[in-house]
Amino acid sequence: MLSDKMQAAMNKQINAELHSAYIYLSMSAYFESENLRGFANWMRVQAQEEVGHAMRFFGFINERRGRVILEAVAAVPTQWATALAVFENAYQHEQKISGMINDLMDLALADKDHAAASFLKWFVDEQVEEEANADAIVQELKLAGDSGTAMFILDRELAGRTAEPAGAGAAE
Ligand SMILES: [Fe+2]
Ligand SMILES: [Fe+2]
Repeated sequence: MLSDKMQAAMNKQINAELHSAYIYLSMSAYFESENLRGFANWMRVQAQEEVGHAMRFFGFINERRGRVILEAVAAVPTQWATALAVFENAYQHEQKISGMINDLMDLALADKDHAAASFLKWFVDEQVEEEANADAIVQELKLAGDSGTAMFILDRELAGRTAEPAGAGAAE
């Protein structure tokens, strides 16, 4: 069984992951409105990944005979000044999520809940990747500066991102 504290914290994480999906979907919609289809694609795939993260927690809570409680997902921004501002926002958001995952791991260790710690290990590793992915695009956008050509090339590149194969991001 999960401790009440862990169950509450994991339910909060489901909400945070779905909120992340909502943020990235909003970013995708923004990029569509700017005719940056490749950027929009990248964000759409990112949103799908976040739903997959939420589903991992959903599955884990149920497997441990806990109770999933879904709460309201907070509203998200709809407008940004530049593509760079979007990705800086995404990078900061991932840093915040990494902090939440670390807090969950601290709780698992304090609870001596080895199953939760093992489950959370995947997220600790995933957050390293999530932060690095967002930061890499921040750096590329800084290099691109005001160059329309560079933005065109970057947009084409991000158009190539595809969703993970079915099951890879889903609850196990
Ligand atoms: Fe996530
Ligand atoms: Fe993420």
